[in-house]
Amino acid sequence: MEDSMLFVGCGNMGSALVRGLCRDNWHKKFRFFLFDQVLEKAKSLASSLGLEWVEDLSNLEAPRFIFLAVKPGDVREALLSLRDLSPAVFISTVAGAKIQDLEEFAPQGAIVRVMPNLCVEVGEGVVPVCFSPRVKVEEREDLLFLLSSLGWVFEAQEEELDLFTALSGSGPGFVALFIEALADGGVKIGIPWEKSLKVSVQTVAGGASLLKARGMHPAQLKNWVASPGGTTISGIKKLEEGAFRGLVMEAVEEAYKRAKNVGK
Ligand SMILES: NC(=O)c1ccc[n+]([C@@H]2O[C@H](COP(=O)([O-])OP(=O)(O)OC[C@H]3O[C@@H](n4cnc5c(N)ncnc54)[C@H](OP(=O)(O)O)[C@@H]3O)[C@@H](O)[C@H]2O)c1
Repeated sequence: MEDSMLFVGCGNMGSALVRGLCRDNWHKKFRFFLFDQVLEKAKSLASSLGLEWVEDLSNLEAPRFIFLAVKPGDVREALLSLRDLSPAVFISTVAGAKIQDLEEFAPQGAIVRVMPNLCVEVGEGVVPVCFSPRVKVEEREDLLFLLSSLGWVFEAQEEELDLFTALSGSGPGFVALFIEALADGGVKIGIPWEKSLKVSVQTVAGGASLLKARGMHPAQLKNWVASPGGTTISGIKKLEEGAFRGLVMEAVEEAYKRAKNVGK
C-alpha cells in the first residue's frame, strides 16, 4: 500500500503546511488527502496543487501521518472523528493542546506536537517538535526528515512550546507590523507605497539573511550600519525615545501569557 498523509483543517496553518511540503515534492512520495469541515477549503487548496480532497473520512484507508490544523476548541471533536483511522501518528499544530490530553481521544494513536509558524509555506519556518513516548524511533526519524522541508526543525520539551508559540508562532505577525511601519515611513518621506513596501520587505529579509549567514549579534550589524553622526543613529535615537525595544519585549511577554491560557 502507498503511504499517505491526511491533513485535517485547511485554514491558514493547514494550507501553509501542505504548500510547504509540496514545495519539496513530498506529494510525489506520499498520497496527500485534504479534509476540512468546510469542504470548499479542502477542495480549492487541493485543486490548486493537484491533490486529492476527502468528503467522507469513512472511505479512507488508514494514513501513516495525520496533520491536525484545527482551532484548539475543535481538536477533541476532530480526533473523535478520526478514531477509525488509527493506529496513526497525529501531528498536532494546535496551540495549548497537551499530548496527554490528545492521546485520551486517540487511544490507539501517537501524538507529535509541533509549533510551526506560517513561514513553513516557503520552507523558512521555525518548527519546534515534541514527541510522545508512544512514537516509535523510526517514525521520529522519518518525521524529523519530513518536517525539515518546512524550515528549521528542533526538538523541544512540551513545556517550552508555549514559549515558541509566542516567539516564532506570533513572530511573523510582529515582523509584518514592523515592515508595514517601515513602508509607511517610506511613504511619509515621499516614496510611493508599492515601491516602499518592496524596499522594506527586501531590507528586512536581507538584514535577517546577513545576520544568519554571518552568525552575527544584531548589535554588531546595527553598529556597522550606524556611522558616527549619520542617518541611522538619528533614526535609532527616535526608536529608543519611543522605547521600541522594551515594547517589542513586552509584546512577546503578552503573547506568552496568552499562549499559556489558550489550552485552558
Ligand atoms: N495560524 C498560525 O500562525 C498558527 C501558528 C502556530 C500554530 N497554529 C495552530 O494551528 C491551528 C489552526 O490554526 P489556523 O490559523 O489554521 O485556523 P483556521 O484558519 O481557522 O483553520 C482551521 C480549519 O479547520 C476547520 N475545522 C474545524 N474543525 C474541524 C474538524 N473537526 N474537521 C475538519 N476541519 C475542521 C475549520 O473550519 P471552520 O472555519 O468552520 O471552523 C477551518 O477551516 C490552531 O490550533 C493554531 O493554534 C496556528
